[in-house]
Amino acid sequence: MRVAALIAVMDADLVRPDTPGRHARLLESASLLPIMLREIQASRDEVERARSLYRIISGRKTDKALIAVRTLAAAHPFRPFPAPAGRQRLLALGRTIHAQACAGCHDHSNPAALLPAENLYRLACEEAPPALEARLFLGVKGMAEQGHRNPFSPEEQTALSFWYRNAGWKCHAEKPGSGHTPANRQE
Ligand code: HEC
Repeated sequence: MRVAALIAVMDADLVRPDTPGRHARLLESASLLPIMLREIQASRDEVERARSLYRIISGRKTDKALIAVRTLAAAHPFRPFPAPAGRQRLLALGRTIHAQACAGCHDHSNPAALLPAENLYRLACEEAPPALEARLFLGVKGMAEQGHRNPFSPEEQTALSFWYRNAGWKCHAEKPGSGHTPANRQE
């Protein structure tokens, strides 16, 4: 499942605007991918395809990279955790986790950073599902003390994505400086 999530995140990153941060992250993912495929004993063909991605991405051949990534995605589809019942409870859980553990960085990000901590509500709007779920599954990178371990249970990850998708962020009405909290939250 980690391989599938990494591939889903690469797919989403490839269609985002080309910034130095995006490029650096894509290269990092491309260097991890063959190792992770080998770990799950993928075919030699797949490992080779993944290895060639690093070169393709270095050369900024985005279209070619997308074709390769989507071929891999078809063989390794990322399936988010199914949402447990209880919409109100999930929303409340996601909201609490976000406020306690994420908002400090993600609601006041530094746009000048190479890889800014993005506004997660906006990310949920902008990217096709299941990119956000795959990003959450792969881990919450700002929380350095957790190392590479994802500190969140499947239910907590689902609650977070549910919150970002349903908190009431106005996907198309955002203006610069209009604040970073959901405007028309319904609880
Ligand atoms: C100490 C600051 C900090 C905290 C706390 C933090 N983050 Fe982040 N987060 C970042 C930064 C910086 C990035 C961008 C770096 C990157 O994309 O590698 C990031 C990236 C992300 C991404 C995008 C990863 C990707 O694949 O593009 C997601 C999703 C995310 N954080 C979710 C969360 C959630 C959910 C929480 C709370 C549970 C959280 N973060 C807490 C700083 C933080």
